[in-house]
Amino acid sequence: MLAVVPPPVTVRVPSKINLHLSVGAAREDGYHDLTTVFQALSLTDEVTVAATEDPGVEVHGEGAKSVPTDESNLAWRAVRALAERMDRPEDEAKVRVVLRKSIPVAGGMAGGSADAAATLVGLSALWKLDLSRDELAEVAASLGSDVPFALYGGTALGTGRGERLVPVLSRHVFHWVLAFDQRGLSTPKVYAELDRLRQDGDPPRVGSHDPVVEALASGDPRQLALLLGNDLQAAAVSLRPGLRRTLRAGVNAGALAGTVSGSGPTCAFLCESAQSALEVAAELAGAGVCRTVRVAHGPVPGARVVGGDDSP
Ligand code: C5P
Repeated sequence: MLAVVPPPVTVRVPSKINLHLSVGAAREDGYHDLTTVFQALSLTDEVTVAATEDPGVEVHGEGAKSVPTDESNLAWRAVRALAERMDRPEDEAKVRVVLRKSIPVAGGMAGGSADAAATLVGLSALWKLDLSRDELAEVAASLGSDVPFALYGGTALGTGRGERLVPVLSRHVFHWVLAFDQRGLSTPKVYAELDRLRQDGDPPRVGSHDPVVEALASGDPRQLALLLGNDLQAAAVSLRPGLRRTLRAGVNAGALAGTVSGSGPTCAFLCESAQSALEVAAELAGAGVCRTVRVAHGPVPGARVVGGDDSP
């Protein structure tokens, strides 16, 4: 009898920006405790998982050349982690993962984490696992700090190393312009630079996240714009001084405010409306301060199967 091969599953997964990122002291395990407000954006990757005799990872699109296709790829580590968790190690060697990327690589928008989260959701459907999103989030947290958020999407408050999440009420669609830099930045190097800056001086620190949460509930982009803040920004700018010019150019082009996203170097600019975002994007693209400009909106949902039942 012929074995039935399940059809491939494609998952769409959002990028994230940090509207607020407060970084605490370095921990013994090398991580930093943080408090952050994530928002999932409509700039997405698509990940297809398929049963195959030709296992491995394939990468297309934005930054594809700089993404490893060996076992170090976070999406592949997601395959292995889920196979182990479900006690079906033999299936690890029977999966092909195809990444179609739009999220910048090493851009501070959690692109690699998004691909890992999408792989978990895709495999859960391909293997017909009866796992809730919360159960998948446990596996996700073992892969990286930002992976659980990519599962849930929306707007959320993250604590711990970013993996502990509670949803935040966000009433409004916010419009963003994203400026991609020429090259990525290494997240560990940016955290290490922040530690160095704090040893030598007193780089600015963001305050409490409460006003950000209130601004999100009010839905007023002008109020939110005054409150965007990221402790890692000083470190990212120290490693990539040109970001200062990019941040200025976005505001000069008409954005309400700009911030470095996560560990950078992508800069995110909050705009008054969808129309304003298009105008800011056009002007920023001509200003010669970044490699590529994109518009996006948020919040959007987390990783979900395209064109199908999106359980879990
Ligand atoms: O969790 P993830 O693998 O994405 O983190 C990458 C690196 O970023 C960590 O190895 C660590 O150097 C740094 N990091 C940190 N504190 C966090 C999150 C990440 O120091 N909360």
